[in-house]
Amino acid sequence: MMPKSLAFLLLLLIVLTRAVRILCGGDEYDQQFFNAYDQDDHGLSIYGDGGQLKMGYYEQSCPSVETVVRNITWSNVAAKPFLAAKLLRLHFHDAFVRGNDASVLLDSTPTNKAEKDAVPNLSLSGFDVIDEIKAALEEKCNGTVSCADILAMAARDAVSFQFQRPMWKVLTGRKDGKISLATDVGPNMPSPFSNFSTLLAQYSSKGLNIVDLVVLSGGHTIGIGHCSLTFKRLYNFTGKGDTDPCLNQDYAKTLMGLCPKNSPSSFVEMDPYSSLSFDSHYFTILNQKKGLFQSDAALLTDPRSALISQLMRIPGVFFNRFARSMMKMGAIGVLGDGNGDGEVRRNCRVVN
Ligand SMILES: *[C@@H]1O[C@H](CO)[C@@H](O)[C@H](O)[C@H]1NC(C)=O
Ligand SMILES: *[C@@H]1O[C@H](CO)[C@@H](O)[C@H](O)[C@H]1NC(C)=O
Ligand SMILES: *[C@@H]1O[C@H](CO)[C@@H](O)[C@H](O)[C@H]1NC(C)=O
Ligand SMILES: *[C@@H]1O[C@H](CO)[C@@H](O)[C@H](O)[C@H]1NC(C)=O
Ligand SMILES: *[C@@H]1O[C@H](CO)[C@@H](O)[C@H](O)[C@H]1NC(C)=O
Repeated sequence: MMPKSLAFLLLLLIVLTRAVRILCGGDEYDQQFFNAYDQDDHGLSIYGDGGQLKMGYYEQSCPSVETVVRNITWSNVAAKPFLAAKLLRLHFHDAFVRGNDASVLLDSTPTNKAEKDAVPNLSLSGFDVIDEIKAALEEKCNGTVSCADILAMAARDAVSFQFQRPMWKVLTGRKDGKISLATDVGPNMPSPFSNFSTLLAQYSSKGLNIVDLVVLSGGHTIGIGHCSLTFKRLYNFTGKGDTDPCLNQDYAKTLMGLCPKNSPSSFVEMDPYSSLSFDSHYFTILNQKKGLFQSDAALLTDPRSALISQLMRIPGVFFNRFARSMMKMGAIGVLGDGNGDGEVRRNCRVVN
């Protein structure tokens, strides 16, 4: 028999080592918790449904693609830091509506209202950066690199600028779709007003699970939101002139100052004081009931997503899981080679 004090010391040592490992994050965080979710992850392979996505798809056909995309994205983000949130949002939108087919980049035509002009006003932007990259790539290797791949790489590079190293891998080989319908947006894009069950159902329909839902919501660590999207929570939650009880009441007062009733076109940071920094701070404020939207607060209403939200406060865990969820998101609904529905657009705004 081990003396009690020795057993206690050993136990203490194990607990401490574990705590240090978890707190220090990095690649060595405890994977055990996520195993159940990852194993249950029937939905989506990071290679796309038919394995259409590859590492280095353009290695032969356009070897400079990664440098060109990074170059142009970084110089734009250096000048306009909010672009990181914009490009991440564009990629997210593209993935959720008709899959990663660059349908979000298509302009409306006289006979068709495209996704980017959908109501509710999505205030999407960053299209000019994609155009700039596309033009440079057409000069280097015309007709080769799809707009869908450009968007996926540019979103990664924009977020990664702060770190000066890629924060996730982007496999390539996507083809561009030929259809973009404003009417596809509403049913597919997760809404800031949605509750937990609606959000989870939407993610599941794309092959994403509850971990992806929480982790990708962490994208709100950068960027700003329209004040008009908070009015209901702040001023008239149940129609009685009340405030959402799931919102920290002190923070609600702060928000009312930033988003007065008469200024629907104002903006507010989604991650207060940290909206230009890609970090796990969103999960810190979320757990203080300071998430901006109902869809943020919704993550605390389910015990599983609430627990995942707590774990994501650790930077190493969040970065690690974000990389994985982004790869899954980038594989949604990919049009690959040999699938007759796709093409490589010459101009990202119009079908060939
Ligand atoms: C990247 O940008 C630098 C500086 O503007 C330029 O010298 C270089 O040629 C660019 N590289 C590519 C591959 O576009
Ligand atoms: C959408 O936003 C743009 C830019 O903020 C604005 O000019 C336009 O009027 C808005 N459209 C709608 C339908 O709200
Ligand atoms: C690339 O440009 C050349 C010269 O203009 C043209 O002959 C060729 O067909 C183009 N390739 C593609 C794939 O568009
Ligand atoms: C969530 O929202 C949907 C759609 O508005 C609604 O049908 C459903 O009852 C809500 N679920 C809960 C648990 O409130
Ligand atoms: C609050 O909501 C109720 C019910 O939707 C509505 O009748 C009322 O006009 C709203 N009040 C304000 C100040 O917007």
